[in-house]
Amino acid sequence: MKIGIFDSGMGGLSVLHTARKLLPHEHFIYYADENHVPYGEKSKEEIVGFVDEIIRFMIAHDAKAIVIACNTATSAAVKLMRQKYSLPIIGMEPAVKKAIDLYGDRKVLVCATPITVKGEKMIKLVERVDKEHLVDLVALPELVRFAEKQEFEGEAVLSYLQEALSYFDLSQYGSLVLGCTHFNYFKDSFQKIMPQVHFLDGNTGTINQLIKNIDSEMNSFSVEYYYSGKKVTDEKELKRIKRYLSRLDEMEQIE
Ligand code: DGL
Repeated sequence: MKIGIFDSGMGGLSVLHTARKLLPHEHFIYYADENHVPYGEKSKEEIVGFVDEIIRFMIAHDAKAIVIACNTATSAAVKLMRQKYSLPIIGMEPAVKKAIDLYGDRKVLVCATPITVKGEKMIKLVERVDKEHLVDLVALPELVRFAEKQEFEGEAVLSYLQEALSYFDLSQYGSLVLGCTHFNYFKDSFQKIMPQVHFLDGNTGTINQLIKNIDSEMNSFSVEYYYSGKKVTDEKELKRIKRYLSRLDEMEQIE
């Protein structure tokens, strides 16, 4: 059987990138909802509809477990989907607790999409773990668009970040929580304006959670890619996906 991983687009490849290391003997389906990206500025109801369709697709394609490699979709839909389906559905959790545990001597900046930042899940998480009021939240929706265009660095990305973060005293932060899987592509740009921060994402935590919930198999690692239900077979598109994965190899070096 297979493990289904999905995102609104190409951000969830950062979760697949981690899965490749921790689960090298599984078959994966990676589904990017390219017809509907970005999710972060849509309504909760719309997102629930997209996620439901993807989960049905995954089940029809022999999935034994599903990873929602998208903080936004997790925030909007994981609870409902777990009520509706019986297979394991693993979601993303922004690594806010880990940031406080490891770097709680300084402030923590959590960046995500507007839906995630405003969502009940995030508000409850921060209430639960942020006893000393160290956490600030910021929505950076434009980064999702840059990522989808493979515009990972350069003047436009940098000035967007500078502008969006201009309300914060950036020197006060010891860690930056990447609360959107699309943001892993931009660590070098973040580092230019916040050179002191440590980066945290929820990827390893999510895959470890997956491991606890599946019976593992001994296959040779493989991935089938789909864009909104359509299998990706075009060489040009497969090369595009490869470029994302190599970008993630580079970004992995930045901690
Ligand atoms: N990659 C997604 C996340 O982790 C969502 C990006 C979007 O579609 O807005 O939140």
